[in-house]
Amino acid sequence: MKFSERAMQVTPSATVKVSNTAKAMIRQGIDVINLGIGEPDFKTPKVISDAAISAIQAGKTSFYTPASGLPQLKEAIANRIKQDYGVIYPADQISVTSGAKMGLYVLMQALVDQGTEVLLPKPSWVSYRQQVLLAGGKPVVVETGDDFKITPETLDAAVTRNCKVLVINSPQNPTGTVYSKDELAAIGKWAVFHNIILIADDIYGKLVYNQNAFYSLVQAGDEIAASTVLVNGVSKAYSMTGWRIGYVAGAPELISKVNSILSHSTGNPATVSQYAAIAAFESDQSEVETMRKAFEERLNKIYPLVQEIPGFKLAAKPQGAFYLFPNVEEAVKLAGLNSSAELVDVLLKKAHVAVVDGDAFGMSGYLRLSYAASLENLLTAVERITKFMNQFLQKQTSGGIGIETD
Ligand SMILES: Cc1ncc(COP(=O)(O)O)c(C=O)c1O
Repeated sequence: MKFSERAMQVTPSATVKVSNTAKAMIRQGIDVINLGIGEPDFKTPKVISDAAISAIQAGKTSFYTPASGLPQLKEAIANRIKQDYGVIYPADQISVTSGAKMGLYVLMQALVDQGTEVLLPKPSWVSYRQQVLLAGGKPVVVETGDDFKITPETLDAAVTRNCKVLVINSPQNPTGTVYSKDELAAIGKWAVFHNIILIADDIYGKLVYNQNAFYSLVQAGDEIAASTVLVNGVSKAYSMTGWRIGYVAGAPELISKVNSILSHSTGNPATVSQYAAIAAFESDQSEVETMRKAFEERLNKIYPLVQEIPGFKLAAKPQGAFYLFPNVEEAVKLAGLNSSAELVDVLLKKAHVAVVDGDAFGMSGYLRLSYAASLENLLTAVERITKFMNQFLQKQTSGGIGIETD
């Protein structure tokens, strides 16, 4: 069968792949701890599930809704944005999508032409690059320093005449980096000057720890907000990855195009999930805070332990999301391997811990560990990796190193 050029370019999601391998090993009875996954391990709060059950029982969920979502949900989103950001988006500037992932996909379809360049910080989430390619565009990598942050200077070095869009994800997957208000204002000003549309992927906005504060690009001044499309959803903050509800908020003419594309692709997101999302946005946000605190405790416990793993180097302590992104170049050498991809492979097969190769995010030589797992599992996983790496330190002192990489 001959596939389209678009389909030939696309590669499967590395995070989904590693997770599936781990899950398959678990099904075979192997005790694998999965730190490859990017989803909270909590049950969706009961008040949200109950709202979905009531909607089903009331017979409200058997029907299509407008492709852009239920008016009541758009109102709940507008109110949540107003409360969280202090910014007003009328309902015609909001479109509900099947996850933030679909929101980002449809934005690329609406904004990117053949050859249009899209600026992506290095490293960044796996799907941006593939979504740009699927739209016929060209991803352009923006270099970052040790803090994994882009600046007007690094943007100057990367920008070309064909650049039209810049994606900012703060808190960031895979590094946990959070941009300050001033940093966002500087980036926003740069984008406005260069006539570049900003996409603010705020999906981890509620997961910020240890007195650090979250700001969105849409809070960085009116001019910047007007050039920004906001993307968010319920997956991470409300532990609702499986419900598939996200949203896009921006200029009315852009949202109108987004709605047209959605009407011919996914249609509306599952009606029952939309009722659940209304409850998520409208309920008191105490369960979000409970989950945030649990992530914070995990981060604070495992960050110093991961720093101690032989060959693992962590830059500044992450401030948000639920990932650690250590440099493992020393660990790769220590184990007599050739790449972080090989290290991922042996950690899964020999230490029974699933993690993701940094290459999936554009940075080989790094690993992404998710701390969206119970504290007990996290501590065991870090202990397993430490033990696994320690054997090479011992071998090094006794003369022999190397490992079979089956
Ligand atoms: C940075 C980032 N943006 C967007 C998404 C997509 O989230 P959703 O589950 O709402 O599609 C993810 C999920 O992993 C993510 O990490």
